[in-house]
Amino acid sequence: MRVTVLTGAGISAESGIRTFRASDGLWEDHRIEDVATPEAFQRDPALVQRFYNMRRADAAQAQPNAAHRALADLALRCELTLITQNVDDLHERGGSPAVIHMHGRLNGALCAACEARWTAPGVMSHQDACPNCGRAATRPDIVWFGEMPYQMEEIWAAVEAADVFAAIGTSGQVYPAAALAQHARRHGAETVELNIAASAVSRDFVRHLTGPATRIVPEWVAGFSQT
Ligand code: APR
Repeated sequence: MRVTVLTGAGISAESGIRTFRASDGLWEDHRIEDVATPEAFQRDPALVQRFYNMRRADAAQAQPNAAHRALADLALRCELTLITQNVDDLHERGGSPAVIHMHGRLNGALCAACEARWTAPGVMSHQDACPNCGRAATRPDIVWFGEMPYQMEEIWAAVEAADVFAAIGTSGQVYPAAALAQHARRHGAETVELNIAASAVSRDFVRHLTGPATRIVPEWVAGFSQT
C-alpha cells in the first residue's frame, strides 16, 4: 500500500507552534511582504532574520505530538512518502525517517550569493559568513512567497503513485501544495482530509476526518494493518 501524506501547520498546532491563518496566526502579527519574500530580505535582512530566529526558538521549545508520532508509526505499516509544508523539525523528532520539506527548514541556512546550504539550528544573522564562499549573505533556507517549492518532481511522482493521499492540518490556500489532492484523485488515489475544520480544498477529498490531529491521526493510522 503506497500512502502519500501532506502536512500543514495544523499538525504542529497542539505542540504549541502557531499556525498562519488562525485568528492569532503568524500572519496576523507580520505582513507576509515584510518577512517572507526575497524582496523583504533585500530590503531589511535583519527584520527577516529576527522573524525566523523567533520561529526557530519557538520550534526548538516545542515537542512532537501524538500526530507526529503516529505518522512515524505509519511508515512501518505501508510505503509512506511524507511531505510537509512545515519548516519545523517535529516530524523528524517524532521519529519519521524521511521527510520532504517543500517549504524549506528553519534549521537550514542558504547562501544568497552561492546557494550553498548548511544546517544552522541556532540564532542566524545575515552577516554570518557562508562556509562555502565566505560572503556575508546568509538567509534562512525557507521557500518564500514567489519562490519555487523544493523537490516538486519527487512530490508529483509520489502523488501520482499513491493508493491513498491524505492532507493533515492544512488550509489549502497555498499552491502548489493545495493542488496535490486533486492531482492524486485524478490518478486514482483514495483522498482523505484530516483537519479540525473545512479547508479551501475540502471538495477535492472523498473522505473527511474532523477533529484535533492528536486524536484523529492516531485513529486513522490504526486503520492500517501492522506489517
Ligand atoms: N488539528 C488539525 N488541524 C488543525 C489544528 C489541529 N489541532 N489546528 C489547526 N488546524 C488546521 C486549520 O483548520 C487549518 O486548516 O490547520 C490548518 C492551518 O492552516 P494555515 O495556518 O493556513 O497553515 P498551512 O495550511 O500549513 O499554510 C500553508 O502557507 O503561509 C504559508 O508557507 C506557509 O507552509 C505555509 C503555507
